Amino acid sequence: MKAQPTLLRIYFKMQSITYGKKHRKPIISVRDLYKIYKVGDNRVHALDGVSFDIFRGEFVAIVGASGSGKSTLLNMLAGLEPPTKGEISIAGKRIDRLSESELVAFRRSNVGFIFQSYNLLNTMDAEGNVAMPLMFRGVSRAERIRKARKLLELVGVLDQAKHMPNQMSGGQQQRVGIARALVADPKIIFADEPTGNLDSKTSMEVLRLLQRLVREEKQTLVMVTHDNSIADYADKRIRISDGKIISMDVSDSTSTMEGTEENKDAGLPGGDKDV
Ligand SMILES: Nc1ncnc2c1ncn2[C@@H]1O[C@H](COP(=O)(O)OP(=O)(O)OP(=O)(O)O)[C@@H](O)[C@H]1O
Ligand SMILES: [Mg+2]
Repeated sequence: MKAQPTLLRIYFKMQSITYGKKHRKPIISVRDLYKIYKVGDNRVHALDGVSFDIFRGEFVAIVGASGSGKSTLLNMLAGLEPPTKGEISIAGKRIDRLSESELVAFRRSNVGFIFQSYNLLNTMDAEGNVAMPLMFRGVSRAERIRKARKLLELVGVLDQAKHMPNQMSGGQQQRVGIARALVADPKIIFADEPTGNLDSKTSMEVLRLLQRLVREEKQTLVMVTHDNSIADYADKRIRISDGKIISMDVSDSTSTMEGTEENKDAGLPGGDKDV
C-alpha cells in the first residue's frame, strides 16, 4: 500500500514531461490578476480577475472601450505598476514579486515600449533617439550609432537619421519610436495605441511594419487598441470590458513561430477561444 503514493508521483511526473514537450511555455503568463484603485471612498476595479497566456512570436492585441482597463493591464505586464493581487510571469520570472529596483533592471533588459505620442526627445536627432536605450547598457558610442542606423534602416527611415523629431512626419516619428523600442533587443514589445495619432493610411503602413517585425525578427508584441480594425492586424485578440476578459480569438492566418493549433488550445486557461 505504501508504494502507491510514489507510483502516483512518478505517473504525474511522466505526464508533466509529456505535456511539457507538446506545449510551449508562454512568454507571458497572467493568473487571476486584479488592480483595484481606491478613489476617496470608492474602489475602481480596473482589472477584475484576468488570466491568459501569450507565446513567443505572437502579435497580440488587447482590445476594449475607453476605461476598460487596457492601459492598466499593459502597465502591469511591463512592470510599471504593481498588481493588487495575482500572478504575472514573464519568461518564467514572477515579476509581481520583484522589488522596484529589480523591476527597473527587468524593464531595461526585457521590455521595449512604443507610445501613442512617440515620446521622442526633441533635442536629439532620430539616430540619437534610437541609440538612447543603449546608453544604460554600457555600449560604446560607435556601436550605439551603428546599431541605431541598422534599426532605422529596418523600419525604413535611415534617410531621416539626422532629422530632429520636429522635422519628421508623424509616421516617420513612429517608425523611429519603433526602432528605439527594438534597439536593445527586448524579449517583448509593448505598444499602447501606437497608431492613435496617425491617419488611416499611415496607420496601415505602421501596422504592416509591426506585423513584419514580429514575423521576421521573431518578436513578441502586445498592442493595446480600442479599434477593431487595428486589432485585426494582430494574430490574437484579447477583448476586455470593465476589467474582465470577455473573449479571445486567434486569426486563421496566424503564422507564429510554431503554428497555430497550440495557440488556440493554450491561449485562455479553461476558457472560450472564439468571440
Ligand atoms: N491611477 C488611477 N487611479 C484611479 N483610477 C484609475 C487610475 N488609473 C486608471 N483608473 C481607472 O481604471 C479604469 C481603467 O483605466 P485604463 O486607463 O486602464 O483604461 P483604458 O482601457 O486604457 O482606457 P483608454 O482607452 O481611455 O486609454 C478606468 O475606470 C480608470 O478611471
Ligand atoms: Mg489607455
